[in-house]
Amino acid sequence: MPLSERQEAIASSSSRFKVVAAGRRFGKTTMARAKFVRKAAGPVGNRRMAYLMPTYRQVRSLVWDFLVERLLDKRWVLPRDISRTDLSMTLRNGTKLLFRSADNYDTLRGEGLDYVVMDEMPYIDERAWTEVVRPMLATTQGGALFVGSPAGFDHFHGLHLRGPDEQFANWSSWRATTLDGGWVPQEEIEEARLELDELTFRQEFEANFINFTGSVYYNWDPDQHVVRGLRGVYNKDKPLALCLDFNRAPGVAAVGQEGPMPWDKNLMGLRVLSEVHIPRNSTTPRVIEEFAKQYPDQRGRILVYGDASGGAESSKSVEGSDFDLVEAALRQKYGRNYSLRVPKANPMERSRINAVNSYLLNIQGQRRLAVDADCTRLIQDFGSVKLDDKGKIDKSNPDQTHLTDALGYMIHYCNPILKADRAEQRKVALPLSM
Ligand SMILES: Nc1ncnc2c1ncn2[C@@H]1O[C@H](COP(=O)(O)OP(=O)(O)O)[C@@H](O)[C@H]1O
Ligand SMILES: [Mg+2]
Repeated sequence: MPLSERQEAIASSSSRFKVVAAGRRFGKTTMARAKFVRKAAGPVGNRRMAYLMPTYRQVRSLVWDFLVERLLDKRWVLPRDISRTDLSMTLRNGTKLLFRSADNYDTLRGEGLDYVVMDEMPYIDERAWTEVVRPMLATTQGGALFVGSPAGFDHFHGLHLRGPDEQFANWSSWRATTLDGGWVPQEEIEEARLELDELTFRQEFEANFINFTGSVYYNWDPDQHVVRGLRGVYNKDKPLALCLDFNRAPGVAAVGQEGPMPWDKNLMGLRVLSEVHIPRNSTTPRVIEEFAKQYPDQRGRILVYGDASGGAESSKSVEGSDFDLVEAALRQKYGRNYSLRVPKANPMERSRINAVNSYLLNIQGQRRLAVDADCTRLIQDFGSVKLDDKGKIDKSNPDQTHLTDALGYMIHYCNPILKADRAEQRKVALPLSM
């Protein structure tokens, strides 16, 4: 697809190192993919190029699948030179393209690299760049393109500062908003703004580097969100959201139903009715068993949300993925009366946090989450989860973050920061009440 003027200006600049901080849906990945293909088509063949994203699922679904199809169409590559297991291919000009997740960046080590894209850079470990990629570019004088949405004052921010810095003559930086991208209509951005909290909007749409510090859930207010006796509104004939995060210690689930908020009958939101918390030696079937004990008479549909990576690698294991286990256990108790609502890949952590904070309190002062006072672990979690010094969720206390993570997958799925994001999810998100 032809690039927009803004995208083209970046793609065709001659800097060796480029850093693009842009709002969501600006077209960062589309631009980076196009640039990558142009580099691959260059007159000199026999090169090695890599496209990196934080996770395998992202790079496969957002870049690999798209490029395989295009490059086969253009006959730049023959089917036999594509390795789908390795996510690599050798073009007819001899250039080798590698697509990698950076979550185990050590596997990137190897021969030189002539060009690299690092997409969603804030979520790629800094060392993937400093220890692995940079040395590989050195021998070839290769170039790099870093793209991402700002996620605080992290290593991506550090790279972005090099553009205007005279000491880094080979570097250029750009900043652009979602609106600049031109792919999301202004009305939709305005609509989104009303559902978000202000910091979230400034970061996600206006591409500002925001210094989030301290509490992850800064809009959480137990005096407002916690409601005694909320469990009493449970309706067994209505859909029930079961939100999971897969861990052994503790095994957790948060369970809720959509409905009017206790403080505003006209405002629909999520009412968290109960939690499951198994401190040690938990397994996925045990979590479901505990859930079933709490809701033995459930007749409305059970909507399952959770950590998309729970279904990822484990398909190789004997037992099956965590979601297979969830399905087996649910089927036993509830027949087929459940749906999995899990995206292909997890949202970026910052997007999920922002979705939760916006749900807790938006720019209009609306609170869309109510939590039963007996959900003591969830309440504790909301109040205590902190950011680390890089602005990411501090995971150092193994007992924490799981319940808020679980709930966050659901909130993000049903209320992504931008409606257009739903298209990238496996199934279109329906209102919870469907
Ligand atoms: N040059 C382009 N031509 C047509 N559509 C585009 C172009 N760039 C972006 N888009 C559209 O905008 C959406 C967001 O683009 P994407 O590259 O995924 O954004 P980002 O990576 O910044 O979030 C894509 O789904 C695509 O439909
Ligand atoms: Mg992208």
